[in-house]
Amino acid sequence: MKTLTIAVIAGDGVGTEVIPPGKRVLEAVGKKHNVTFAFQDFDWGAGHFARWGRMMPAGAIDLLQPCDAIYLGAVGHPQIPDHITLNGLLLPIRRAFDQYANVRPAYLYPGVESPLAGRRGGEIDLVIVRENTEGEYAQIGGFLYQHQREEVAIQTAVFTRRGIERVVRFAFDLAVKRNKKKRVTSITKSNAQGYSMVLWDRTFQEVASHYPDVETESLLVDAAAMNFIRRPQSFDVVVASNLFGDILSDLAAGIIGSMGLAASANLDPEHRFPSMFEPVHGSAPDIAGKGVVNPLAAILTGAMMLEHLEMQQAAQEVEAAVAAVLASGTMRTPDLGGNNSTEEVAAAVLEKLG
Ligand code: NAD
Ligand code: IPM
Ligand code: MN
Repeated sequence: MKTLTIAVIAGDGVGTEVIPPGKRVLEAVGKKHNVTFAFQDFDWGAGHFARWGRMMPAGAIDLLQPCDAIYLGAVGHPQIPDHITLNGLLLPIRRAFDQYANVRPAYLYPGVESPLAGRRGGEIDLVIVRENTEGEYAQIGGFLYQHQREEVAIQTAVFTRRGIERVVRFAFDLAVKRNKKKRVTSITKSNAQGYSMVLWDRTFQEVASHYPDVETESLLVDAAAMNFIRRPQSFDVVVASNLFGDILSDLAAGIIGSMGLAASANLDPEHRFPSMFEPVHGSAPDIAGKGVVNPLAAILTGAMMLEHLEMQQAAQEVEAAVAAVLASGTMRTPDLGGNNSTEEVAAAVLEKLG
């Protein structure tokens, strides 16, 4: 029996509702593969902030470091400014552990209706690879004349050749590994941003030259948004900067039917540090506490964690169980047009897992 230590940060809002079913699925599939998950729960987030004035304790990173992976629900509370909650928990973890590749698959499951007319199951099958440690999220800047009429805010994006190169290379390797359309689309805005995005484009082309068997495409981010709607079936791997990748990943979740199906992994591909697995969605305060949040994004995120921990077979079993529940068409939370609860959907996945 192998034991894997998983740090768990359920966080805020629906994060606390999707993580327990996610853990149950991991435990169930682990049992079948002789793996025990030692979950270490950390009650960090808005509640911690209310009590201690910070989202996580000072030594948090040191506590997470020895774990095999981090499983996170969501962060954000309507009564605390988002720049405090997110810069106090999620974003520093991504940076501290150099989780530079944020991998966000978007697959239209058979049995799920896309808001785009006429799309069949399986037809949308793309992965966004989002740069996750620099770019527009570098958090370099400050205020001048704060709270005065002359107030100035400076927020500087930071793009490094090393940062672009490694994430673009990851995207190409993923296209090769997926062995599907073998196409990488680069998201740019070099028509307006004449420094950072010019470096992005040039670095993309350099990396691409080492992958002659992979087809490439470069799209301006505005046109890419339109093409996600018009020809979503044409995309395979999409590589984007931090902010562009963030925006496109909610759009991708939209076209596959729900935020409740969008999984994501913040990877340190070199395995120097623990990687972090969290659904794309946030704390969803509009539905929190009602027991109706879709747990499938968190469950599929768990499958991505299994894959990273070299449990490919277990990952496939979880994915297949989710696919079977969706294909049956009878068991779904309200975001997918059903009236089942979080618990009912989670129980159906566990049943399919056997
Ligand atoms: P959100 O993703 O929380 O919600 C957007 C919409 O999608 C809402 O209508 C919500 O009900 C719905 N939705 C999201 N996940 C769902 C699920 N699993 N099942 C069914 N419906 C679901 O985005 P938001 O409303 O812009 O942000 C809410 C808070 O979460 C903010 O504080 C934001 O900063 C934070 N946030 C955190 C993360 C994270 O921790 N990774 C990600 C995004 C947003
Ligand atoms: C996401 C979220 C975060 C991001 C926010 C909450 C800071 O939207 O994971 O997509 O922008 O990275
Ligand atoms: Mn986002």
